[in-house]
Amino acid sequence: MSAAADEHSTMAGTKKINFGKPLDLTVLKDKVALVTGGAAGIGLGVVGALAKAGARVAICDVNEEAGKKVEEELLGQGYK
Ligand SMILES: NC(=O)c1ccc[n+]([C@@H]2O[C@H](COP(=O)([O-])OP(=O)(O)OC[C@H]3O[C@@H](n4cnc5c(N)ncnc54)[C@H](O)[C@@H]3O)[C@@H](O)[C@H]2O)c1
Repeated sequence: MSAAADEHSTMAGTKKINFGKPLDLTVLKDKVALVTGGAAGIGLGVVGALAKAGARVAICDVNEEAGKKVEEELLGQGYK
């Protein structure tokens, strides 16, 4: 496939993301995000990244205590 064709490739109508370029995280500002397993591990990392990008994050986790701790920490830092 040529570079030009690759630039315009789509999957289900969505423009292909070029992970070689920095992602534009401003599109996440004030969006609502639900993260399952958000109290620990990979989910926790995703929660932090989304919050820093300005999203309103719902932490969905079977470990309610850990989820509440993360929520308090993020709210304390001014995140939503
Ligand atoms: N950590 C890695 O390097 C790695 C690599 C490849 C794949 N994975 C897979 O990715 C997933 C996440 O990995 P991790 O290391 O972040 O996991 P983890 O074990 O740290 O779990 C993350 C969170 O998910 C929560 N959780 C578990 N079951 C849940 C449920 N049914 N609903 C909501 N929350 C739930 C846990 O309470 C925990 O807070 C796992 O399926 C794991 O097998 C992890």
